[in-house]
Amino acid sequence: MARPGNLDPMSTASSLRAEATRNGWLIDGDIDRHEPDEVRAALTQVTATIAGKGGGRAEFWIHDVADGDDRGPEGAGFTAYRDLFQLRVPLPISESLGGERLEVRPYTSADLDDFIETNNRAFSWHPEQGGLTRRDVEATMGEPWFRPDGFLLHERSLDGAQQLAGFCWTKIHEPTDIDPRMGEIYVIAVHPDFHGQGLGTPMTLAGLDWIAAQGITDALLYVESDNDAANAVYERIGFTRHRTDRAYETHIEPIH
Ligand SMILES: CC(C)(COP(=O)(O)OP(=O)(O)OC[C@H]1O[C@@H](n2cnc3c(N)ncnc32)[C@H](O)[C@@H]1OP(=O)(O)O)[C@@H](O)C(=O)NCCC(=O)NCCS
Repeated sequence: MARPGNLDPMSTASSLRAEATRNGWLIDGDIDRHEPDEVRAALTQVTATIAGKGGGRAEFWIHDVADGDDRGPEGAGFTAYRDLFQLRVPLPISESLGGERLEVRPYTSADLDDFIETNNRAFSWHPEQGGLTRRDVEATMGEPWFRPDGFLLHERSLDGAQQLAGFCWTKIHEPTDIDPRMGEIYVIAVHPDFHGQGLGTPMTLAGLDWIAAQGITDALLYVESDNDAANAVYERIGFTRHRTDRAYETHIEPIH
């Protein structure tokens, strides 16, 4: 999923730094996030710097959160507010799952505005994926991993006109020390005009089938813990939870 952008990075003496994003300050950096005392001290330091720069909302993530990890951010005045699950499934998915496959076609540049409209309607509630502009999308599509043939669109007729009913945008991750080559369901959505018609599962399967056709045997995706409709779709397909990333937030008063 789209992540906050890198704007105006602000270094501090600690190993954490704060970047201004459209959702406030994003605190990131090189620190052992499973060491609560280290996290508390580093967050306390960086929040003091943010206070001197006008304060505001600040957010901090712990990836693969474990029992006891909340103590660090909470000790620095942050509150856990969002869990993001990383789910994984082995490929290929059985052809018997989900019934008939959807007719899909690859994205072309002529689809940009329809994609943005569908995306922004479906993700109106989402802090990073909602409210995309042409500039945001074109920047993502300019990244080296982008492949239009791995970005699948499904159209349906509504009131006599063909409309973009859903899309499944995939992203291939090259192997790392830890993981093999993997395919991600990067963004998936069904236009709200078509919600509840059973399109969620076959739309996801269209992306998974494309990833499997590249010879990839492992897929992943990120989903909000409270996105019940999406989690229902993924569970039915056979995805299981690999790890949980947790976001913490606070509001920092300015120091003048
Ligand atoms: C997630 C999404 C793709 C699902 O597509 P959909 O066409 O609405 O869903 P479906 O009709 O295929 O239904 C999927 C399942 O979710 C269930 N469901 C639908 N809405 C639900 C809700 N609000 N709460 C709980 N379950 C729900 C359905 O009952 C169905 O389960 P079943 O097949 O076992 O009966 C769609 O809701 C969407 O685009 N959401 C916004 C974007 C998004 O969240 N994308 C996923 C990001 S990870």
